[in-house]
Amino acid sequence: MGVNNLFQILCFWAIISCFLPLTISGLVRISLKRAHLQHHQTSFNEIRFSRKLGTFEVANVGDSIIYLKNYMNTQFYGEIGIGTPPQKFAVIFDTAISYLWVPSSKCNSSVACDFHHRYNSSNSSTFTKIGTPYDIIYGTEAKLIGILNQDNVEIGGLLVKNQILFEVTSEDSLTLVHAKFDGVVGLAFPDKSDGNANLIWHTMAEQGLLEKKIFSIWFNMDPEAELGGEIVFGGVDPNHFKGKHTYVPVIQNQDGIWQIEIGEFFIGNHSSGYCQEGCPAVLDSGSPLLSGPSTVIIEINHAIGAKGVKSMECKEVVSQYGKIIYDLLKSGVNPDKVCSQISLCFIGSQHLRNDLKTGQERQNRKELTSVTDDLLCSACQKTVTWTQNQMKQEKTIKEILKYVRKLCHSFPAPAGDVVVPCDRIKRMPNLTLTIGNNPFTFTPQQYIRTTEEHDKKICRSQFYAVDLPSPAGSWIFGNVFMGVYHSVFDFGNQRVGFAEAV
Ligand SMILES: *[C@@H]1O[C@H](CO)[C@@H](O)[C@H](O)[C@H]1NC(C)=O
Ligand SMILES: *[C@@H]1O[C@H](CO)[C@@H](O)[C@H](O)[C@H]1NC(C)=O
Ligand SMILES: *[C@@H]1O[C@H](CO)[C@@H](O)[C@H](O)[C@H]1NC(C)=O
Ligand SMILES: *[C@@H]1O[C@H](CO)[C@@H](O)[C@H](O)[C@H]1NC(C)=O
Ligand SMILES: *[C@@H]1O[C@H](CO)[C@@H](O)[C@H](O)[C@H]1NC(C)=O
Repeated sequence: MGVNNLFQILCFWAIISCFLPLTISGLVRISLKRAHLQHHQTSFNEIRFSRKLGTFEVANVGDSIIYLKNYMNTQFYGEIGIGTPPQKFAVIFDTAISYLWVPSSKCNSSVACDFHHRYNSSNSSTFTKIGTPYDIIYGTEAKLIGILNQDNVEIGGLLVKNQILFEVTSEDSLTLVHAKFDGVVGLAFPDKSDGNANLIWHTMAEQGLLEKKIFSIWFNMDPEAELGGEIVFGGVDPNHFKGKHTYVPVIQNQDGIWQIEIGEFFIGNHSSGYCQEGCPAVLDSGSPLLSGPSTVIIEINHAIGAKGVKSMECKEVVSQYGKIIYDLLKSGVNPDKVCSQISLCFIGSQHLRNDLKTGQERQNRKELTSVTDDLLCSACQKTVTWTQNQMKQEKTIKEILKYVRKLCHSFPAPAGDVVVPCDRIKRMPNLTLTIGNNPFTFTPQQYIRTTEEHDKKICRSQFYAVDLPSPAGSWIFGNVFMGVYHSVFDFGNQRVGFAEAV
């Protein structure tokens, strides 16, 4: 996740688990109940993290739901039991990580552990020691250290035997202290760079607990509803989608993520020119976001009249190089090479001046130069993409430059979220992603979230800008996406399916 982005998202739902195992024709459901929410601020690079670690009011797992301020759907979690007799934990189900972690009773020097349920292996008759030391960074800053061991896990009425657990004995994180949940159940693919990863769906399948080698997720984005969502292991709940699922293959990769390829992106009835040759998208049930690369999001922001910020670098690039960029593209220069041809981007980092006397001076200068260079280079690359897309639509150079100049005013605010004028919602365009050649439309009612703050109506776009370095240019399909489209994770056939959620 880009560390330089300083977006803020203004608040998060807090979700508290409520264990409602329901058995429908051999399927196992874990109901995800929403109970709390609280206004909460965080920097952009913490969005995903805060979704996991936001500050929430304390409530008991299994309590009837307590509604606080209803603000934004960002967190969904349920309850599992570990050991015999089962010790209960509130957990998030996260398709982007590949381990199951809970705090350990051996965690005695981290404040975060003191505030959460801790797993005591000596109190479990089914505990099996493995004892492999393990550590990970969770979210962006939580350093988790512990041991891999093994025990039984009760999950939605299923008893999964001898599941490998990451027992966390040190949680070095301030944000974790206030997290309402205790741990996380990873539902990614095995991370090939990490031989220790052990997915619970894999264990379930091995032990013949599943009717089908799938799990499916539905998030209820209706803040008024009592039931906050469902995850079903082994099947789908026909009550929460309509029509047939569109399936697309999972792209095999090293990181073990659920990655797919998506097609052309439409703003209203018009192709935006993006993703005509395919773009990567990552399915992340642990992220609240629906996000795309900033180049696309800026165009969306412009189209929906979102308040953005003016980018001086962008204006500079367009006024000084706009025509040259157009001409280079017209003459068939590879779009990836345009910005280096006009010396706004450099290949490698060897372009830095080496004529400065001291190392420190060089270092200072290097930091300065690279920040400016990066901004200009990034503005140039965006300009190239926009120009190229407009050229596909056979616009004249005059129209293109005028449009691109306007986009320079719609950059995502570095310290704010994407606020739009509420009275424009009715006139805003549909936004449509193409998956498996089928359109997946988001209406303004679905992608704009309206809230009341200090008696004032605030409307925010749910399309955020995130420039993921890897897989480069990826979209992230998080809670917002899965709220609109019921998602089936078919690990047996290495594919993902989507249908309209109801
Ligand atoms: C904390 O745990 C460590 C190892 O698990 C143990 O050696 C130590 O004695 C414990 N400290 C306290 C105060 O319980
Ligand atoms: C874990 O459980 C054992 C056995 O019930 C108990 O003696 C021990 O004090 C517990 N440890 C903690 C840290 O609660
Ligand atoms: C340990 O298990 C017993 C039942 O076997 C239970 O009564 C007790 O509360 C448990 N202690 C902890 C610390 O979980
Ligand atoms: C988009 O197409 C639909 C159906 O063809 C039409 O009803 C609608 O008016 C069009 N919208 C715009 C903005 O052109
Ligand atoms: C937007 O999409 C919805 C749902 O697919 C559709 O009913 C509506 O007509 C679309 N609006 C426009 C302006 O095309």
